[in-house]
Amino acid sequence: MAVLVTGASGYLGQFVVAHYAQEGCKVGGTYGTGVKPEFEGDVHMFQVDLASGDGLQQCFDALGPLQAVINCAAQAAPAACEGDGEAAARAVNVPTQLLAALHRHEQQHGSAPVLAHISTDHVYQGTSSFYKESAELHPVNTYGRTKVEAEAAVAASWRRHVILRPSIIFGPPPPSPTRRGLFLQFMDGCLADRKPTTFFSDEWRTPTYVRDLVEACAAAVRRCDELPAAPPAARIFNVGSPARMSRVDMALAVARVRGHDPALVLPGAAASVPRNCATPSDISMDTEAVQSVLGVHMTPFEDALRQIFDVAAAEDGAEEGQQV
Ligand SMILES: NC(=O)c1ccc[n+]([C@@H]2O[C@H](COP(=O)([O-])OP(=O)(O)OC[C@H]3O[C@@H](n4cnc5c(N)ncnc54)[C@H](OP(=O)(O)O)[C@@H]3O)[C@@H](O)[C@H]2O)c1
Repeated sequence: MAVLVTGASGYLGQFVVAHYAQEGCKVGGTYGTGVKPEFEGDVHMFQVDLASGDGLQQCFDALGPLQAVINCAAQAAPAACEGDGEAAARAVNVPTQLLAALHRHEQQHGSAPVLAHISTDHVYQGTSSFYKESAELHPVNTYGRTKVEAEAAVAASWRRHVILRPSIIFGPPPPSPTRRGLFLQFMDGCLADRKPTTFFSDEWRTPTYVRDLVEACAAAVRRCDELPAAPPAARIFNVGSPARMSRVDMALAVARVRGHDPALVLPGAAASVPRNCATPSDISMDTEAVQSVLGVHMTPFEDALRQIFDVAAAEDGAEEGQQV
């Protein structure tokens, strides 16, 4: 049976597709209006508008019975979800069309795929620290509100679901370019160029290593049926590094691992930069459950950086060696 990954042209989606393709699975991936990415393995790409549903049934029909759907598609830029962007953002972030297609799939094939739905830490209010999955949800921006609505829609409509809440997702560059800038590569690039750069010192997150999140998706699919139906938070998992970090903490860690001058990291207040939407102050998360229940290790930020950049250094070295 195949696995379907929505948002397969996005940052996370590309890593999820690559994971299942490497496992030897038949994988379907959707892309919207971005560039169609290329993958190795038994991967089939479909252009789908998840807001209107255009192309979705053709994608389901072509793939046949599905083992799982990993829903990575979203309007994931908080500022783009405000004002005129709200309706379009809600239409994709709340996966109404996807859920309808899943119900049609169940009727047609008599089987219900696992739905691993990607949410966000922006569902939390940001006035506390180390939020647990059972905390009350009070998002401060439209992005967070659409994601809360999405979680409710998934939980109400699809029994075999697991919801994963990542924080800022970071990792190596994806196989194909994405539309949105890459968080870690931006930080590293500024410091490598010796540009003094201001990073927020008063917003805290538990940044999510993309490889941990891919592992969490795979574990969610494997272990979905072991999870209790109630309380609802039993099927929700925060996914992020064990430590609570500001952007300054993250930039200083990048400087340490990459050998950049830490004096280039300038602390600044988040309020000093207009970002066109309210942003929560401290949405750091408690990530004990994903480790103890799903059995997925959450890599400390600096350990993840060493993995990411050591691999990159080894690849650079290999390429240089080939050129010589
Ligand atoms: N990035 C983060 O730091 C972060 C943090 C917390 C949570 N998350 C969540 O993690 C998930 C993955 O994020 P990401 O950073 O990988 O996102 P991303 O790189 O911005 O990719 C978004 C994906 O969604 C697709 N998409 C958007 N609107 C669509 C539509 N109407 N129809 C079809 N496809 C559509 C895009 O396709 P095209 O580009 O081809 O149109 C793209 O493949 C999202 O649910 C996001 O909310 C992300």
